[in-house]
Amino acid sequence: MNQFGGDWTENKIEIIVEYAKAYLNIMNIYATKYSWKLLYFDGFAGSGYIKKGKKENQKLIVGAAKRVLEIEEPRPFDLFYFVEKDIENANNLRENTELQFPEKSIHIVNTDCNEKIKSMSEFLASPKGKKYKALAYIDPCGMQLKWNSLETLQKLSVDVWILVPTGMGVNRLLKNDSNISDAWVSKLETFLGMDKEEILKYFYKEKVSHTLFGEETTTSKEVKAIEKSAVLYKERLAKLFSFVSEPYVLKNKSNSIMFHFFMASNNRSAVKIANEIIKKYNKLN
Ligand SMILES: C[S@@+](CC[C@H](N)C(=O)[O-])C[C@H]1O[C@@H](n2cnc3c(N)ncnc32)[C@H](O)[C@@H]1O
Repeated sequence: MNQFGGDWTENKIEIIVEYAKAYLNIMNIYATKYSWKLLYFDGFAGSGYIKKGKKENQKLIVGAAKRVLEIEEPRPFDLFYFVEKDIENANNLRENTELQFPEKSIHIVNTDCNEKIKSMSEFLASPKGKKYKALAYIDPCGMQLKWNSLETLQKLSVDVWILVPTGMGVNRLLKNDSNISDAWVSKLETFLGMDKEEILKYFYKEKVSHTLFGEETTTSKEVKAIEKSAVLYKERLAKLFSFVSEPYVLKNKSNSIMFHFFMASNNRSAVKIANEIIKKYNKLN
């Protein structure tokens, strides 16, 4: 059973479910007309349920995988592909989905999401895959998503919702004095698809002062590094997809930003719908 999350955990699930319903409503017409198949891909699928809160007043939330499987109207997805790296979660997910929805075509794989994003891209680009339209939900708890995995999705018929750990991940690795360990630099590089020099140039500024003993250079981190990382990620997504939504901003109880949640697509109307949903949930913040 997964254990994490604040109110935004529930909002995030409501957003993806609301979008999935809108997606199915629109795609229903085209799928019939053009014999398209609709694929739902969840790269960090979890166990089926999420435990929320402390032991005394713990609450059980139905996870996104099950919620999307429950959608019947106007039609369900034709195929569900769930990726979950943790073996226990993957086994629980099997019990909570395959056994409960025997009539649905469900695939659960116990591996790394990055590997399967690449497999999905190859499939969607293949002659057989051209008949498929996909909705992907990428919901990691940390910085597990590699930029080069996302790159494989560009130009394909896929709407991707991505949870970006701006406050929880990127900002924590960006040390105030720019003295970042090699391991963390490497993590930032893999996550952002940028090299060290580009990352430092974006997030830090250098100030040269003329002192009695000559020039002195001090390096300091940008004050709004979390917001800057969201702007950066959005710009980077816009290089892969024609349209990128505004983010849903996930804040903790102390009002600190933890994540930004984006939708990217090559379809303008899809992002328009996503923005309408996101706007509604941002107002609750
Ligand atoms: C935030 S939770 C997902 C919650 C889920 N979307 C839901 O609604 O119930 C992240 C999940 O990703 C899994 N995970 C972590 N790293 C992964 C990876 N590299 N590939 C696939 N799954 C991973 C974790 O075991 C965890 O269950």
